[in-house]
Amino acid sequence: MTDNDSEGLKIDAQKAATRVGLTSNEIIINGGSPLKGRIEVRGAKNLAPKAMVAALLGTSASILRNVPNVSDIRVVAGLLALHGVQVTRGAAEGEWRLDPSNVEQAHHADIDAHAGSSRIPILLCGPLLHRLGEAFIPDLGGCRIGDRPIDFHLEALRKFGAVVEKLPSGISLTAPNGLHGANIELPYPSVGATEQVLLTSVLAQGQTELRNAAIEPEIIDLICILQKMGAIITVEPNRVIFIEGVEELRGYDHRALFDRNEAASWASAALATKGDVFVGGAQQEEMMTFLNVFRKVGGDFEVHDDGIRFWHPGGPLKPVTIETDVHPGFMTDWQQPLVVALTQAEGVSTIHETVYENRFGFTDALNKMGANIEVYKDGMHDDARRVMRREFEQAAIISGPTPLTGAEIEVPDLRGGFSYLIAGLTAEGQTKVTNLGIISRGYENFIEKLRLLGADFVYEG
Ligand code: EPZ
Repeated sequence: MTDNDSEGLKIDAQKAATRVGLTSNEIIINGGSPLKGRIEVRGAKNLAPKAMVAALLGTSASILRNVPNVSDIRVVAGLLALHGVQVTRGAAEGEWRLDPSNVEQAHHADIDAHAGSSRIPILLCGPLLHRLGEAFIPDLGGCRIGDRPIDFHLEALRKFGAVVEKLPSGISLTAPNGLHGANIELPYPSVGATEQVLLTSVLAQGQTELRNAAIEPEIIDLICILQKMGAIITVEPNRVIFIEGVEELRGYDHRALFDRNEAASWASAALATKGDVFVGGAQQEEMMTFLNVFRKVGGDFEVHDDGIRFWHPGGPLKPVTIETDVHPGFMTDWQQPLVVALTQAEGVSTIHETVYENRFGFTDALNKMGANIEVYKDGMHDDARRVMRREFEQAAIISGPTPLTGAEIEVPDLRGGFSYLIAGLTAEGQTKVTNLGIISRGYENFIEKLRLLGADFVYEG
């Protein structure tokens, strides 16, 4: 396709969008076309911003490659620049260079204004305390899928010797006597709290033992980055991570791990639309639990060296019971996009959401489109459970198959938003999805990818 062609397409799309009065935050999807083709996923949205924060710990510049063009990245890049980090785009697509030579404190109001809807600022605590002896973290954003407290983070920081003061607009931290190693046991294998401990302990005085740690692939990739910088981190059996503090860390050069949540989302879209999508960059090892479920629902997949092909082989989709869990279990981020495919399965599926206490809100809109999903806010008893029942868990019962019809729906959160795109692609007729901006927090160039896969939609370019 020449530039003129794509320019022409763009003008057509704009004309069409203007005709239907769309803003750039909305899309109208004409359902019924199976997604077919190849798209590429780049670095993980849940790794790359943390890797950028880790660069603060180095005495020299770092290079991070395979970085996705999503708004969470831009928010963190802005936050780091506010603190004096020289953040520049490298020559190659997806390459960022971060030079922390002149780290300085930023004004609270600027930090607050810049943090946006991201949750990443909380991870700046340790690195800023090491570099400046102080840090201010504004109230956090992030998807409304639960209360999302930070008590594990603050508890850990206090154990390292930080003094935490709650302010009306956020938290202020100091480390009057520096930061020293600590023995920390997390009440739950929290990804964020594990990252907090890793980013604080590597330059702390002495040893840190972290128990009940998260061991998601993104955590291991962050550990690889810190090891490249000179950290001494040992991942022991039974979720124990042992860190020996060092005097100094240098910059790193790292290619971010692929985004398995985005890969699982496109796989679910292929299933729901009876399509065939090759996800370039996807790898089997980090997605094994998803692949098992994908196959049980009736999907088929083929693992290649440069990605995974996901397709609907024909025949009915089958119901499944899913229990979300920490890695290596079925990730909570995978359930929302898959729910739409389960509305087309012949029978009753059950999802036990054990990680977040309120991650089924998005199903209301799907029911408006004809789905039959019942949410049990106190969870559901199930003798065949393999994942320990948690106090706040909820359950959803999805009865299918239920034809979906187009509706106007508003994106509630990142993964729920992507599930709405899938619902629109699967439904009969037109679906208008609004508040699209949330999706670009975690899905790079998703409009372009929909176009590449043959989706039928109108969007103001
Ligand atoms: C990360 O969130 C991801 N976000 C989430 O992805 C992901 O769902 C989650 O890990 C679990 O894998 C990023 O990495 C930016 P947690 P995080 O700390 O670190 C409770 C997506 O769609 N908890 O592992 O915030 C918490 O309430 C997003 O990409 C506390 O109680 O998740 C939750 O119930 C959504 N106190 C559970 O632990 C704390 O101090 C897991 O949270 C911290 C967490």
